Amino acid sequence: MNVIVTGAAGYIGGQTVLALSAAGYRVIGVDRHMPSMSIRWAMDDFLVSDFAETNCLHLIARAQPVAIVHCAGTSLVGPSILDPSTYYENNFVKTKYMLDYLVENKLTDIKLIFSSSAAVYGEPVMLPCSEEDPPMPISPYGESKLMVEFMLQAYHHAYNLKYTAFRYFNACGADPEARHGQAPGATHIIARILESVRDNREFVLNGTDFDTADGTCIRDYVHVEDLAQAHVLAVQQDVIGIFNLGTDQGHSNKEIIDMAKSVTDREVAVSTGPRRAGDPAQLTASPARWSDDTGWKPQFTLRDIVQHAWTWYTQ
Ligand SMILES: NC(=O)c1ccc[n+]([C@@H]2O[C@H](COP(=O)([O-])OP(=O)(O)OC[C@H]3O[C@@H](n4cnc5c(N)ncnc54)[C@H](O)[C@@H]3O)[C@@H](O)[C@H]2O)c1
Repeated sequence: MNVIVTGAAGYIGGQTVLALSAAGYRVIGVDRHMPSMSIRWAMDDFLVSDFAETNCLHLIARAQPVAIVHCAGTSLVGPSILDPSTYYENNFVKTKYMLDYLVENKLTDIKLIFSSSAAVYGEPVMLPCSEEDPPMPISPYGESKLMVEFMLQAYHHAYNLKYTAFRYFNACGADPEARHGQAPGATHIIARILESVRDNREFVLNGTDFDTADGTCIRDYVHVEDLAQAHVLAVQQDVIGIFNLGTDQGHSNKEIIDMAKSVTDREVAVSTGPRRAGDPAQLTASPARWSDDTGWKPQFTLRDIVQHAWTWYTQ
């Protein structure tokens, strides 16, 4: 029971490697970078390669995996606006090479599990976001993810390709056993706050004038291990389609700061900065479609998320 994980050295891919290995799969990782030893041990094989390179595509044919968990991608909104070509190429064009290889080699029984993003919604029309809402991305990053979703649906209808696309909301936290977490300097708010506390630096809170109860942005935080377990279910179950992975609960940036104070038992030095371009006031998602189909339920609270991340940053 082979499973290939692209982006296996990354944050979500690495956690998914640990979860798939614990579930008994033979995991083959692919990434442009070497993974840390704390996740490498969970892989039966690892290829340092671009996922669209011929050697990686041939590996798919040789390994005949039951699924490819496709986490490899470039994922920052701001840089995608400055350099859209890289984002369309790495996220969309290269994924098309891989899908075409599956189709041309009659490998469409291999399920493709794709890391999409909440960024496909852009400014949400209604909250919580539902998969029925019209996607309206406002960055090349979000567009590149939506383009892959369109392609997956079309290839499913035309070539019977099996797929699950996950729209992750804010992935956060770290492995509960502290084996894996975010790389240093990650842009996510929990990472930025905790690294600031650890390094005695000031944390810059962007935007305090949003139309929310405390004036700061509200986001849906989902523990990376809950995401990893959703991927295991996607490998195990014959569920096709596009699914939100959120928790249906929002937390404001100020709540995150308060939780960081409580977990670390330290003060958080905060200065305020302007809003970041393209930041909606609120973004939360109903995961009902995925939960109803597979029984998935997020297990971890915001306190767990911050606690696990703090352990990761300070171990
Ligand atoms: N972290 C989040 O909150 C979040 C939210 C929504 C969607 N996503 C998506 O989930 C996926 C994983 O995110 P992450 O946070 O783990 O990112 P990450 O940057 O930690 O990991 C991505 C990994 O993919 C690898 N990679 C990129 N392009 C590659 C290529 N062409 N060939 C081989 N390897 C390649 C990178 O080396 C990296 O190790 C990404 O596609 C991202 O867009 C992440």
